[in-house]
Amino acid sequence: GVTTLEKRYILALDQGTTSSRAILFDESAQAVGLAQLPFHQHYPQPGHVEHDALEIWQTQRQAMQDCLKNAGIRPEQVAAIGITNQRETTVIWDRATGEPIGPAIVWQCRRTAERCDELVRQGHAEQIQRKTGLVVDAYFSATKAEWMLNQSPELRERASRGELLLGTIDSWLLFQLSGKRLHLTDVTNASRTMLFNIHTLDWDDELLELFGIPRAMLPEVQPSSHLYGVTDSDVFGAEVPLAGIAGDQQAALFGQGCFQPGMAKNTYGTGCFLLMNTGELPIASTHGLLTTIGWQIGSDVTYALEGSVFIGGAGVQWLRDELGLIQDAAETEALAYSVPDANGVYLVPAFTGLGAPYWDPYARGTIWGLTRGANRAHLARACLEAIAYQTRDVLEAMEIDSGMQVRRLLVDGGAVQNRFLMEFQADLLGLTVVRPEHYESTARGAAFLAGLAVGYWSGLEALTELIGTKATLFPHEMDEERREALYGGWKHAANLSRGWLI
Ligand code: G3P
Repeated sequence: GVTTLEKRYILALDQGTTSSRAILFDESAQAVGLAQLPFHQHYPQPGHVEHDALEIWQTQRQAMQDCLKNAGIRPEQVAAIGITNQRETTVIWDRATGEPIGPAIVWQCRRTAERCDELVRQGHAEQIQRKTGLVVDAYFSATKAEWMLNQSPELRERASRGELLLGTIDSWLLFQLSGKRLHLTDVTNASRTMLFNIHTLDWDDELLELFGIPRAMLPEVQPSSHLYGVTDSDVFGAEVPLAGIAGDQQAALFGQGCFQPGMAKNTYGTGCFLLMNTGELPIASTHGLLTTIGWQIGSDVTYALEGSVFIGGAGVQWLRDELGLIQDAAETEALAYSVPDANGVYLVPAFTGLGAPYWDPYARGTIWGLTRGANRAHLARACLEAIAYQTRDVLEAMEIDSGMQVRRLLVDGGAVQNRFLMEFQADLLGLTVVRPEHYESTARGAAFLAGLAVGYWSGLEALTELIGTKATLFPHEMDEERREALYGGWKHAANLSRGWLI
């Protein structure tokens, strides 16, 4: 038990594309403990990406134990746990044994691109967008799950009998954390599957039929801030409420305090995800954005518009791991500053196709504008600039779709430490980029959702106060002519990267 004098905390589990993290927050929303474990990426074929779901669970479990140990906190002192996760990544597992039936197919994986072409040819795109808010793309879970079930006829039968379960990473972790008892998800994760009707808030029978997904294998969908159940004490060391779930980008929107319609944030992680709160009504995009659920608290649903860019920080990792151009991602900052410009070089990191607003699964990475004087610094600079250019692509689409103008862009994610990137981003957008003092927004958002559900925090007003106003502002300085010339070059390069049918 907990003595009344002992402090209590909220634990956020942030299961991302390249690492599993656990962060402990106190009442003032300060992070007081952190542990992070990377795990393996598998690329069995060009454009294919897989994870080992058991490794995801093992690293997540280890991260949560390390986090508590490092902070000197006992499991009983955790008031609630919030889960946030890489979205869309799909797992099918055996309900009885908890063993996955195969690798998890990662959101970046393009293996179902042709199936998506077929769906569009067959005229399903309009209905899918109307119901799910999504563009037909291999990014989402539906065609991944269909692909897995197509591996053997026996799988669909077992799934119909409820012996096999289908879930995104939140459900997978919840199942394991609860000692194989709970099979649930929240509306934000459900809204990324291409099987969920974002208006009725239920799995859509027509879509389940279209993809051959038995309802019996799906998790029950619940709000994002909610008492889902408790941890198994053999797994966690105590029975602790599992009380918050949100996809990582939605969690970041919440963690940044974007509670009012028109507020937007951009997260610079593996990819870049720009989300805008659009209020209680979903806005359908006509410019290649996604309509998605921001969060649900009680019966109140907040919708969002999203621009998803597949490769952001992952481009810098590529410079480091595949080209060996740098040893550490942070080196790109000094390299970028060491030259006055990218010397006409553009790097379009379409490694897994292009997401919003292009939606071209056949686009491939392209370096354009090389001349004899182009060097390593130019390439590093072009890699950072590409992150900013892609963000401009989606911000322009968002302003048109929403009819709202973004004047200040809130940012978070690992790459916001890169001062060059922040300055170039402000210049290229012609607005002020606002980097909050604490930019662990994703984990904080999950903690907030969990904390609200158990009364650890009282409501949105209290959260707004905790977030505070301390921030670094990056004003824009570049003149318009230069800005537009640079961006024009990007548009050209992006078009050159497209449509390489393999
Ligand atoms: O949609 C994919 C997104 O949720 C992945 O985020 O931070 O793990 O790259 P991240």
